[in-house]
Amino acid sequence: MSVAGTDAHARLDPAHLPPLVARAVAAARAHGFPYSCRPEHGRLLQALAGGARTVIGETGTGYGVGLAWLASGAGADVRLVSAERDPERARVAAEVFAGDPRVTVLTGDWTRIHEDGPYDLLVLDGGGQGKTAHDPAAEVSSLLAPGGTVVLDDFTPSAGWPPLHEGKVDRARLYWLEHRALDMTEIRLADDLAALVGSRCRMRGTETEWRGLEHGDVVRGVVTHVAPFGVFVELPGALQGFAAVPELDWHRFHAVEEVVRVGQEVTAEVLAFDVERGQVRLSLKALEPDPWLAFARENLGRTVRGRVTKVAPIGVFVQVAEGVEGLVPRELLDRACAVGEELTVDVTGINLRRRRIALAVG
Ligand SMILES: C[S@@+](CC[C@H](N)C(=O)[O-])C[C@H]1O[C@@H](n2cnc3c(N)ncnc32)[C@H](O)[C@@H]1O
Repeated sequence: MSVAGTDAHARLDPAHLPPLVARAVAAARAHGFPYSCRPEHGRLLQALAGGARTVIGETGTGYGVGLAWLASGAGADVRLVSAERDPERARVAAEVFAGDPRVTVLTGDWTRIHEDGPYDLLVLDGGGQGKTAHDPAAEVSSLLAPGGTVVLDDFTPSAGWPPLHEGKVDRARLYWLEHRALDMTEIRLADDLAALVGSRCRMRGTETEWRGLEHGDVVRGVVTHVAPFGVFVELPGALQGFAAVPELDWHRFHAVEEVVRVGQEVTAEVLAFDVERGQVRLSLKALEPDPWLAFARENLGRTVRGRVTKVAPIGVFVQVAEGVEGLVPRELLDRACAVGEELTVDVTGINLRRRRIALAVG
């Protein structure tokens, strides 16, 4: 909880606060409630609210300071819903927003916000944060619209990994930062205050099953369209599949048509579901042997022969196996090289995730 939040606002000139915020701060002070959000967080909420299109949700209204920042940044057609379990706080907060028809304060447990939504912006400030055993984390796949933003307040900044709180691994923070359905990050708002902010991924989605398919299924279909960015595949059941360029082939190619053509039957692995677009994300190359894996298994620390494929300012790229290229950094070259030239190189490092092979001239 932001012990200093109400007082920190009170120290500011009310003339420099949005009128609704000043009203909510006055209500919090009048009721001796110190735990309002800090102004630094309030400004973040105000900015994020500007990006909401339909509805914003909040857990833990308190006396409505955070909600007032949200309302001051939200558009005229955007609704705001906040839940507060303390009936007196909920009553007073509802009075603060009495003149703003966009805002609804619900009395009761935070889970009442399920009555509205999914939300474009979801602020978890009292319930749903997963910070204690009695407070399970909110289920973003049902509460957050695809592409929507979630915000959690009140963390002490932690730059290292894993995030620590009072010397121990901060499990709640870790849960959010590693959430598969969110692109989440920690943002430092002051020396002693950080927030977690993230978006619900549009492409990865949380759905592991959709229309009778699940991740990892192998499907067969026919290529209906080839674009510079990928290929469209008609799958059984009139489902549309899509394989982006990086998922077509392990080998480097110049034009998509070098790999597949319209009318060709292809077999692919289901990677994900883009429910918004009604598309199954596919990988064609997942069913082909990865030449990098084979190279890595055999060649780390060995000396191999390769052919220069590209001369770049950072060094020269050398093809060391079919579909596998490594880099000799410029500082390790004692002479100029030309494309097509054969070189003997030492394989000094391999990183499969980054698809990088470090080479030195042997
Ligand atoms: C840190 S304060 C909220 C401050 C407020 N959002 C602001 O910015 O001024 C947390 C509030 O959440 C409420 N709260 C805690 N757990 C809750 C729950 N499970 N459901 C609803 N409200 C809850 C508390 O009563 C308290 O008023």
